[in-house]
Amino acid sequence: MRENILIIGNGGREYAMGLVLKDDKRVDRLYFAPGNGGTHALGVNIPTTKHTDILESIQKHNITLVIIGPEAPLSEGLSDFLTAHNVRVFGPSLAASRLESSKAYMKDLVSQAGIKTAKYMQSNDVNALSEFIHTLTPPIVVKADGLCAGKGVIIAQSHSEAIAHTKEMLSGEAFGDAGMRVVIEEFLDGYELSVFAISDGKDFIMLPACQDHKRLLSGDNGPNTGGMGAYTPTPLCDKSLLEKIKKDIIAPTLDIMRKQGSPFVGVLFGGIMVCQRDNELTPYLLEFNVRFGDPECEVLMPLLETPLLDIVTHAIDGKIAELECKMIEKYAVAVVASSKDYPYKSSPAVPIAVKDFDKNLGHIVYAGVSKAESGEILASGGRVLLAVGLAESLEKARDNAYEIMKHISFKGMHFRDDIAFRALGR
Ligand SMILES: Nc1ncnc2c1ncn2[C@@H]1O[C@H](COP(=O)(O)OP(=O)(O)O)[C@@H](O)[C@H]1O
Ligand SMILES: [Mg+2]
Repeated sequence: MRENILIIGNGGREYAMGLVLKDDKRVDRLYFAPGNGGTHALGVNIPTTKHTDILESIQKHNITLVIIGPEAPLSEGLSDFLTAHNVRVFGPSLAASRLESSKAYMKDLVSQAGIKTAKYMQSNDVNALSEFIHTLTPPIVVKADGLCAGKGVIIAQSHSEAIAHTKEMLSGEAFGDAGMRVVIEEFLDGYELSVFAISDGKDFIMLPACQDHKRLLSGDNGPNTGGMGAYTPTPLCDKSLLEKIKKDIIAPTLDIMRKQGSPFVGVLFGGIMVCQRDNELTPYLLEFNVRFGDPECEVLMPLLETPLLDIVTHAIDGKIAELECKMIEKYAVAVVASSKDYPYKSSPAVPIAVKDFDKNLGHIVYAGVSKAESGEILASGGRVLLAVGLAESLEKARDNAYEIMKHISFKGMHFRDDIAFRALGR
């Protein structure tokens, strides 16, 4: 039987998954809910995020498999809801999703498991938190407990600044309920990696490490964003470092989740800070996410040799140990083009012009786009699209991504010119 697959979400991550599933002979039809102006070309968009509407569409269209892309529906229990209605779904349960939706829960859990993570205190009491803040040397990291779409973390340069942000979060003014509990952390100095494990609740496989670029401007300047570009594999994570991350961070976490009765089935995404300790590279866990990263997904998908469909179904069926995850021996670099006022405010929708380019360079992934009645694709969201370059070397993959970018234009378009600079030295 061929699969009819529904992908939940509307970003570049979901487009990238759709792109590889579309080419899988075992896939009949692809649906996206709600999808974006680009996913129209890969399948059918179902314009809803309501759980009951999604279920109705699944029944109506004979959908055999659902893949949940973003964190929001997971934290709203969409996976449990669909499972309860006998739908095959890839995405962790509400209980397992707490690894991302509550930083306080995650920190307590990993500390209990003896996993290396920044020294911290989590509380809803300003006095207790202030006292802890004074035991740290600035910079000091202040985090809202709940989901804040990547905006809930502040690196304070002084004790007083840390306390002011803590108070603002606790008041509910800054992030509503998500900030009613706060995590204070010591600042870790190092470089960041994104690592991905696919687990069936018991066993897991690892994908190659990626590096994201959170800051808006080249040279890692400007405000934090959802991510302005990514690349994989990265020479900053060799086999032995990935093995350490696997053994010291991923495996014990999945183990404790299973033992406490909330086995993790899905993509466990570790945000890692690699620090120099006693002349050794030592990975510290910054945070967990419970889904693919965006833009990391956009560089991982085109390099999968083992089909995404196999990875997903083996995880659902509890058979991930039977799968050998192979990657194509290439590099992928994704550069995000964002709209004029991202991440501060939205910009009016503008047309996108794409000139023909050599498809051997790579491809475009559509994210914050809508489709006009005329059929024209409009830049309508913050992160509009990505140029994904593929090649046998990292340098060439980056050149290819920027070559593709030369063929794309829209009013107010912005992108960083230095994606992968940590690996390439510029
Ligand atoms: N303890 C820390 N030390 C240094 N930098 C940190 C620390 N915690 C977070 N950061 C920085 O803040 C960013 C966002 O923090 P993270 O915990 O990943 O939250 P979120 O992705 O939910 O906003 C990280 O990618 C990292 O750059
Ligand atoms: Mg993060």
